Amino acid sequence: MSLKDVYATTLEEDIFHVDQTFDALFNFTYDESRTDLLDLYEKGKAMQWNAKERIDWSQELDPENPMELPDELFALNGFHLYEKMSRKEKAECRRHMQAWNISQFLHGEQGALICAAKIVQNVPEMEAKFYASTQVIDEARHVEAYKMLLDKFGVAYPMTPPLQELLGQVLRDSRWDMTYLGMQVVIEGLALAAFAGMRDHAQNPLAASVNAYVMQDEARHVAFGRLALRAYYPHLTEAERNEREEFLVEACFLMRDRFEAREVWEALGLPVEECVKHQNESEGMQMFRNFLFNRIVPIVKDIGLWGKTVQDGYAKMGVLQYASVDIDALQAEDEKIAEEFDARRSHIEDIAAIASE
Ligand SMILES: [Fe+2]
Ligand SMILES: [Fe+2]
Repeated sequence: MSLKDVYATTLEEDIFHVDQTFDALFNFTYDESRTDLLDLYEKGKAMQWNAKERIDWSQELDPENPMELPDELFALNGFHLYEKMSRKEKAECRRHMQAWNISQFLHGEQGALICAAKIVQNVPEMEAKFYASTQVIDEARHVEAYKMLLDKFGVAYPMTPPLQELLGQVLRDSRWDMTYLGMQVVIEGLALAAFAGMRDHAQNPLAASVNAYVMQDEARHVAFGRLALRAYYPHLTEAERNEREEFLVEACFLMRDRFEAREVWEALGLPVEECVKHQNESEGMQMFRNFLFNRIVPIVKDIGLWGKTVQDGYAKMGVLQYASVDIDALQAEDEKIAEEFDARRSHIEDIAAIASE
């Protein structure tokens, strides 16, 4: 099914065109010295899966609250106009808000697909090209899975302008490390925290499992960004590193302060500014927005972009405390949780098989 007929707001253009000028690099040394990247490549090949088979798509969403998320996580929770709505109207708000979220995941995954393909061409090392090629198929699978999930909502939203702005900026930059920094570190880092929110709070088994399986792959993508950048940044001058730090801080502020779901309030005929204000002032939402940075901050520190610009910027955002998060432990946990979802499904199928005997 095409999303064209279910967009809740006008889709300005079918094709988002980003002019690019970057070099495609061949490498004739065929080095095999980056064993860390080659190990990740082996893992990437071994852990491929099929979204049509691994996920039970016969499961449905809940009409009242599609992903069965707790109300505390809903942006309008406690908002006077929302509280006065009928049960049916509230359900419609939840459906639209959740569809907006999954739409942004879907478009973000397409961004990751395109960035990974750019990395294959633009990065000089063959070992990195190998790994990035497995990420290309991973990201295609993520687009496929979120699209199938979004189909069940029956409504979709175009890419929100701040995400489109950041993606355009990352893609237009001809330097290979900027693609990693914008995509593997900022966008994937934010996405991981948001996916974790859905995986851990959605009571709906279909929605939870899609997020869990995507996260299992994302753990490798984040590791790829870390390995590549950690080896590269010590070789840059301080001025070059500063430029990256400034980009990081700006990108993080952009994603925190402008990722506001305005399109949803507009489509629902609600007063947009009042809704945004409620969302910005609600304590729960602020905590949630800061939490979105718990995966980015420790990685930024780990890749060596930890100068005054970044530290001051993160202090201002109130997210500096995440610098001590153990990212390896979180990623090991992400992989384990995905395996638990597999185990649960095969357990249910075993019981169904016994019952039908
Ligand atoms: Fe992805
Ligand atoms: Fe990814």
